[in-house]
Amino acid sequence: WGKKGHRTTGEIAQKHLSKKAERKINALLNGHTLAFVSNHGDDIKSDQAYRSYSPWHYVNYPFDSSYEAHPKSEKGDLITGIATCVAVLKDEKASKEDKIFHLKMLVHFVGDLHQPLHVGIADDKGGNDFQVRWFNDGTNLHSVWDTKMIEDYGMSYTELAASADPLSSYQLAEVEKGTVIDWMNESRTLCKEIYANAEIGDKLGYRYMYDYTSVFRSQLQKGGIRLAVLLNDIFG
Ligand code: ADE
Ligand code: ZN
Ligand code: ZN
Repeated sequence: WGKKGHRTTGEIAQKHLSKKAERKINALLNGHTLAFVSNHGDDIKSDQAYRSYSPWHYVNYPFDSSYEAHPKSEKGDLITGIATCVAVLKDEKASKEDKIFHLKMLVHFVGDLHQPLHVGIADDKGGNDFQVRWFNDGTNLHSVWDTKMIEDYGMSYTELAASADPLSSYQLAEVEKGTVIDWMNESRTLCKEIYANAEIGDKLGYRYMYDYTSVFRSQLQKGGIRLAVLLNDIFG
């Protein structure tokens, strides 16, 4: 996602933290919120020293394959990236500095896991090379999903978080269950549907917004809730 998507995920997660997890996270982040640190993963991208983390923002493989069957990239991907962050945060011997860094990265990556085009295909770099129009502007499908729809929806990240659909305890439990791989597969199902409903050169606009607003809102909400699941497990 773009900045607003990541902040929304962080804000929703913050509300689902256990008291104990919240206290420990506050101590690590010096009182800053999950929303506040959620874009660190993108902020460091331009710094050569952090180049090796770039492939951790996504996972691509062919639609007719599975994650398990697909040869793992040596550089790591979104799934191994999340696993590394969780491992460092659970490691009693890791330094505070390392924990802070990997906490910020985890907040970011769980957001990206829920952006369907971050769990896509390599051919067009997750839709980055899939050119479309957004109203009258030339852009690409990835950017429509990272930022365009969310921005045009016209809410701040706090409004987006506060207006997430209320869930019954049964619905909440359904969102909370599963593994990181399950969450990726769910996001990937959405990704396939997005490809089935777009063609290169399409002029996307209001119609597309109507069709997909509930999808991106739900993905932001699920990302936040599941980030809290991971953090409550780590720090609870
Ligand atoms: N670069 C290559 N594939 C990508 C993806 N799925 N998302 C974001 N950036 C990418
Ligand atoms: Zn993106
Ligand atoms: Zn990212």
